[in-house]
Amino acid sequence: MAKPSSSYVCQSCGASFSKWSGRCEACGEWNSIVEEKPLSSGPAKKSLGAKRGATMVLSDLAANEVPPPRTTSGMEELDRVLGGGLVPASAVLVGGDPGIGKSTLLLQAAARFARQGVKTIYVSGEEASAQVRMRAQRLGLADAPVQLAAETNLRDILTTLETERPGLAIIDSIQTMWADNVDSAPGSVSQVRAAAHELVSFAKKRGVAVILVGHVTKEGQIAGPRVVEHMVDTVLYFEGERGHQFRILRAVKNRFGPADEIGVFEMTGGGLAEVGNPSALFLSDREEAAPGSCVFAGIEGTRPVLVEFQALVSPSTLSQPRRSVLGWDAGRLAMILAVLEARCGIPFAGLDVYLNVAGGLRVSEPAADLAVAAALLSAREDAALPREAVVFGEISLSGALRPVGQTENRLKEAEKLGFTTAIIPDRSKAGGKGGLSVRSYPDLAGFVGDMFGA
Ligand code: TYD
Ligand code: MG
Repeated sequence: MAKPSSSYVCQSCGASFSKWSGRCEACGEWNSIVEEKPLSSGPAKKSLGAKRGATMVLSDLAANEVPPPRTTSGMEELDRVLGGGLVPASAVLVGGDPGIGKSTLLLQAAARFARQGVKTIYVSGEEASAQVRMRAQRLGLADAPVQLAAETNLRDILTTLETERPGLAIIDSIQTMWADNVDSAPGSVSQVRAAAHELVSFAKKRGVAVILVGHVTKEGQIAGPRVVEHMVDTVLYFEGERGHQFRILRAVKNRFGPADEIGVFEMTGGGLAEVGNPSALFLSDREEAAPGSCVFAGIEGTRPVLVEFQALVSPSTLSQPRRSVLGWDAGRLAMILAVLEARCGIPFAGLDVYLNVAGGLRVSEPAADLAVAAALLSAREDAALPREAVVFGEISLSGALRPVGQTENRLKEAEKLGFTTAIIPDRSKAGGKGGLSVRSYPDLAGFVGDMFGA
């Protein structure tokens, strides 16, 4: 039997190697690699242990236990992203760029939960209690029954939680927490990992829900490797463009609800305001039917959301024309340009292409393919699409249009917002389409010929 050998783990990024070196090949950090002994070193035990873990039959469990009651905050946008409210004894990570509004969101949430009768402790490692109180005043929450603590020592925080036994503890942020038994600086991977582990186990053991705030690094990850993401039940990202007032809370992992659900907020002078009807907001500053603009009827989580794609196509002076994308996948744009060229005979060579989702939303559905193609063509031909039309459908490499899920929901939302025409792959999926006039095309060439006479 091969002897288990030790591995060498980079304390900065978590990469593991079979031998020591002075510099981590994965992240480039110097002197960060430390030997870690495997868990099962020493001679293998001959027989099994006397202790055994208890098992139970799944069907017994189902009969005896009801799903845990969820606590709702009353902030609908937050509750929906959590999967219908906060599950007791669960651990939630809220990540986002510095300054995006995480502390604001969580202070507002803390006040809401506290007013619902949940004993709530807000631990700030970044701001003094007086600063948090000032912020609360600005948000009109000065009288909320939230307990504040300005503390970074993990041991002290756990003692406080142990004695106070709150229903919810918010830790802002996990990067400022410091475990005195770990020999590295606050914010390092080992510290973050240790602190998150302690807090999450405490949550499970004592039935306290914890919400951890995490800053996102330059590479778009929470605290180096995704160690914390694996430890928690739910991972939410708070995102948005700094220049825009919209903020989107997105569930990227949720053990207790659907992932990909979004909540939409608006940053105002008095804190974050919920946006119950995001479609209306994302389309609010749409101009008159302009070339390059196309409205996509999308689905975010369980909710239909209408957004505007904007494209600009202009002659390029570069040998390799520019392809610039905001809010959509660059690889997918390249694919759509290739399909337009190969299947419809419309070249984009020698042309710079800019594509943008209005309002700062990020769209990841392939269902937006047809809307992207329509925006690109409209920009290239300098011909506006009908202003009252929504577009959706997936494009395959053969140039065929594929139907997408939830067609009826998308059409319903479009109709609600006053659109009159829908351009989609397959009419038969439209169901009782109400007042919309539906145009369907089996392939991209058919759509192009009809709309742009190419
Ligand atoms: P903050 O919650 O401190 O961000 P994070 O915790 O993610 O670092 O938000 C800071 C920004 O929000 C700051 O630029 C000011 C703005 N803001 C408002 O616009 N209105 C408000 O009511 C508050 C409290 C903050
Ligand atoms: Mg903050």
